[in-house]
Amino acid sequence: MSIGAAAAATTLFVNAAQTVTCEGPPLARRGSGMADAGVRTGVGVAVVGDRIAMLAPDDTLRQRFPGAAEVDCDRGLLAPGFVDSHTHAVFADARFAEHELRATGVPYLEIARRGGGIHASVRSLRAASDETLHALAVPRLARLVAGGVTTVEIKSGSGLSVEHELRTLRVIQRLAETQAVRIVATCLGAHEVPLEYRNAPDGRAAWLAALEEELHPAVARERLAQFADVFCEPGVFSAAESRRILEGARAVGLDLKLHADELHDGGGAELAAALGAVSADHLAAISDAGIAALAASDTVATLLPATMLFLGTGRQAPARRLIEAGVAVALASDFNPGTAPLTSFPLLLTLAVSELRMSASEAWVAATVNGAAALGLAGVTGQLAPGFSADLAVHAVDDYRALPYWFGERLCRVAWSRGRACIG
Ligand code: NIG
Ligand code: FE
Repeated sequence: MSIGAAAAATTLFVNAAQTVTCEGPPLARRGSGMADAGVRTGVGVAVVGDRIAMLAPDDTLRQRFPGAAEVDCDRGLLAPGFVDSHTHAVFADARFAEHELRATGVPYLEIARRGGGIHASVRSLRAASDETLHALAVPRLARLVAGGVTTVEIKSGSGLSVEHELRTLRVIQRLAETQAVRIVATCLGAHEVPLEYRNAPDGRAAWLAALEEELHPAVARERLAQFADVFCEPGVFSAAESRRILEGARAVGLDLKLHADELHDGGGAELAAALGAVSADHLAAISDAGIAALAASDTVATLLPATMLFLGTGRQAPARRLIEAGVAVALASDFNPGTAPLTSFPLLLTLAVSELRMSASEAWVAATVNGAAALGLAGVTGQLAPGFSADLAVHAVDDYRALPYWFGERLCRVAWSRGRACIG
């Protein structure tokens, strides 16, 4: 045995009733390829250091790794940790008032036109210290992890000045250093046109220039985010503006994501596919042409069913049509104070089955391997397979279909990210 192998701690996850593996090639699963979540029985997992070393019956693991520590799954469900590939988890204040305002019939985009919505988050974030933003985010991330999430993407986008966007990304960087869960950062400076620009002559062009010439180059230079994102939506950023912003971001070395066709079709899916974005997110208003474009691309369609539910739109993204067209579909929370104040990832599996009409297996694949692909991490996380990062969770159910079924329950007992316990 090499010195490295002898030194690395070994832990066996044993006594599982079922094991969801999502095992397969390190790629997003598309269309009918999402139907099999690789559910196995009588199989445990050996973790050596920060990696998964072996899947085998418990006895085989004990013979191969004598004296290893053990985690008793207690006849529960052993599974890959969830990959939440779309959150806005760094924010200051909640936004209770607009929740009620929407209930009276005022639409989400109208609230922003009146200076609320995202602009309310901008005001509270700018007034909060770095320390406060970090301290507020820690328990929110803990709630995500408590549901079995072991990788979280976090976007900026409530700073909306070069200074406050960079400050937000530095808070995210500090969270990545201080929290056990894996964190991936995205710059969403193009979340809105900030009010001080919107109200100035040529302000819109000036904000686009600030994104292109100052913010994105600084983010790339300081390695504060891997991705750039844009809220591509009629009335916010057009497809032409989004293209310009994303092409500029790519030119300085950022990879691309896109808020696309959330409330109205703005050609966002087509743009994401044309630019080779890693994901197009939301898609509740995607057109047939958008579905065809995604099907012909490697762009993952990330669906956020909590958002449409919380907005009370009575609509959801056409998950079945996307899957039937051969698109790779992922699930994410969109956790944010305006449209999805939700930290229970298992509840998204419920919404995937009940609202998006996905099978439980499709929901598991969407929440793990396809979420990883939506962050460019398909070879790293999202599968219980040898060589993958030791990102796993144990849920107190004995059937993979039980997690979406018992909706709203807190059933996760153990979550590990990169070989370290986040809970359990
Ligand atoms: O994904 N739509 C744009 N961004 C978020 C909402 C952010 C907010 O309202 O603060 C979303 O739904
Ligand atoms: Fe979002």
